[in-house]
Amino acid sequence: MKRIICDSYEDMSRVAADIVEAQIACKPDSVLGLATGSTPLGLYEELVRRHRESGLNFSKVRSFNLDEYYPIGKDHPQSYNYYMNSNLFSKINIAAAYLPDGEADDPMSECKNYDAKIEEAGGIDLQVLGIGVNGHIGFNEPSVSYTITTHLTQLTESTLTANSRNFTDGEAQPETALTMGFGAIFGAKSILLLISGGNKAEVAKKLFDGKIHTDIPAALLHLHPDVTVILDKEAAGGISNLMIENAN
Ligand code: PGA
Repeated sequence: MKRIICDSYEDMSRVAADIVEAQIACKPDSVLGLATGSTPLGLYEELVRRHRESGLNFSKVRSFNLDEYYPIGKDHPQSYNYYMNSNLFSKINIAAAYLPDGEADDPMSECKNYDAKIEEAGGIDLQVLGIGVNGHIGFNEPSVSYTITTHLTQLTESTLTANSRNFTDGEAQPETALTMGFGAIFGAKSILLLISGGNKAEVAKKLFDGKIHTDIPAALLHLHPDVTVILDKEAAGGISNLMIENAN
């Protein structure tokens, strides 16, 4: 697991954009795995800027998002479909972009179809991940066992509380979601995990304490051969040099 500590959120976003840009330069028809939440907003802003100003070309790129609330309408302002369209897809020339369908009548068959589409695309080349304060990746919540396939999952209290900031008073917040499982995430050829903010310092510290905590889903990423973690200074606050040596 490679680790890069940046001075600021803006630096973290630029370094992440460099990695995505290098991926597309090496393989113009890359399949990207994408994440939502506040963490990758700076990355998406930087990719849009590079597309507009330096011609970063997404015309052969396809993407698959990690997750979507269920049930939720595609045009609901809190849906990840809406988030991705407004922050990235409508502003670049991406060839095709997929998310799990939060309006599917049959969520089980939607999950199967989603995995089949990822497989048909040849799997994910570069998977971008954020992390929950509880260590979740996608909506794979802390548990004693982890699901391999895309699945319908119950969100934990910790995630519901963290994400309630996005829902206005009285607006119904979905308590379940469709999420890629560990199969598609770990099948990615490389993984880029972004960790930002002081509220993630505690989970980041555990990620680098030399142990694989099985109740922190992101900690299992130590078992993947090509993971880069980029942290901003606030998130890296609690990490000591000793932990860094242990993690490498
Ligand atoms: P955040 O969410 O970027 O909004 O903190 C990350 C996550 O829950 O995976």
